[in-house]
Amino acid sequence: MIGKPVNEQAIEKKQAKIHYFNHAQTVKKPVMKNLFEFAEACLHRPSIDEKLALSHYARHLLLNGALDLAEDRPLLPIASVKFPDKPELLAPRYMPARKLTTTDGVTAFFHAIAHVEFVAIYLAWDIVYRFRGMPKQFYQDWLRVADEEAQHFELIRNHLRTRSIDYGDLPAHSGLWEHAIATADDLLARLAMVPRCMEARGLDVTPAIIEKFKVLGDDDSVAILSRILTDEVGHVESGSYWFKFVCRQKGFEPEAKYRQLITHYFKGGKPKGPFNREMRIIAGFSNAELDWLETHGNENTKYF
Ligand SMILES: [Fe+2]
Ligand SMILES: [Fe+2]
Repeated sequence: MIGKPVNEQAIEKKQAKIHYFNHAQTVKKPVMKNLFEFAEACLHRPSIDEKLALSHYARHLLLNGALDLAEDRPLLPIASVKFPDKPELLAPRYMPARKLTTTDGVTAFFHAIAHVEFVAIYLAWDIVYRFRGMPKQFYQDWLRVADEEAQHFELIRNHLRTRSIDYGDLPAHSGLWEHAIATADDLLARLAMVPRCMEARGLDVTPAIIEKFKVLGDDDSVAILSRILTDEVGHVESGSYWFKFVCRQKGFEPEAKYRQLITHYFKGGKPKGPFNREMRIIAGFSNAELDWLETHGNENTKYF
């Protein structure tokens, strides 16, 4: 949505090419060129490596002006989306302990983050796939997010592998995709609940986690989480931009609509604080929205 300087665009192009070619040995080069065909494949083929390669390749095509955005493919229902057999999905209360003071706790923490990033790839592709008829920039923005989520997942999966476990070896939280199912027919609700609620929560909690890893002297974890945090500000910012865009299109007042949607879709009525006002303002929240969130937050919310 937001124009980037030419030198940044050149770096993005190069990175997308590198990410794609890193996968080229494991997955055959796809013949597809249409964005919605990529989205359909990423949502309905459970292979993790194929999903990563397709996400990077679609971005590579976009940045080289070779991606077809024609919307003539049929839309399959959200119930047909397929996830891999592993990890086993469990309710939050059955998750392994993630205390950063023990080796197993740190491993469980990164496995939980890997799962958040993995579902985030699906969430980005699903917003591309399910909400047709938007401006070209909408699809370009969410494809960028899908590609960055795939990069985040790979960073964390590689980090897990240095700890001798892989993604799927531990159970994972079953709740994240439920927000997508609940908002499958309502773009404003999707934007309010996913980028402007779940992803925005990452902006609140990640800085303190980075500080803990700094204290532990774990520089690799600090570097990975810092990189992810920087990208996530952009994801929430895209969410805010498109939320306001659609509100304007439909004649809604954005702050009132946000309050209404969060109250309706968020179990318990409101996400819990404390909120990172500085980062959320950069990411497109208003002071009035933050003031509302800060009053009577729900204290029992778990995000991953
Ligand atoms: Fe991410
Ligand atoms: Fe994200």
